[in-house]
Amino acid sequence: MEKTFLMIKPDGVQRGLIGKLVQRFEDKGFQLIGSKLMVITKEQAETHYAEHKEKPFFGELVQFITSGPVFAMVWQGDNVIALSRAMMGKTNPLDAAPGTIRGDYAVHTGNNIIHGSDSPESAEREISNFFKAGELLAYDRAL
Ligand code: CMP
Repeated sequence: MEKTFLMIKPDGVQRGLIGKLVQRFEDKGFQLIGSKLMVITKEQAETHYAEHKEKPFFGELVQFITSGPVFAMVWQGDNVIALSRAMMGKTNPLDAAPGTIRGDYAVHTGNNIIHGSDSPESAEREISNFFKAGELLAYDRAL
């Protein structure tokens, strides 16, 4: 079954949104198979955002994502990558439709509440940056 890596960023954790956001993905019908509240290291942040290394906002991005606890999660379900990204909304909250997570909770691109993998390859790479194989659990049955 398809898996994705979702991470509630420091702004989402500080604003007390973990429960509401987890609820959205559970309500949709996805299964949470791993999660941890953690402060990520600079190395993990640089690996996670490696594709943005040359961007002018890279330093700011790494500084922000390591600035406080994040809630890292692995979810599974049919088409969970595309569907969870649709639920998150566009990266820039100005473009994110109301009803999406960023459309409902975010104002700025830098503080946009949540990250989600954009492909199966990214999901695999991102999951292994944050979780060991033994930390992902199995459910008795698929939905
Ligand atoms: P995310 O999905 O975590 O992946 C890359 C992140 O870079 C993105 O969300 C935004 O939070 C951030 N980002 C993209 N563009 C900018 C920008 N112009 N300034 C600051 N951060 C940005």
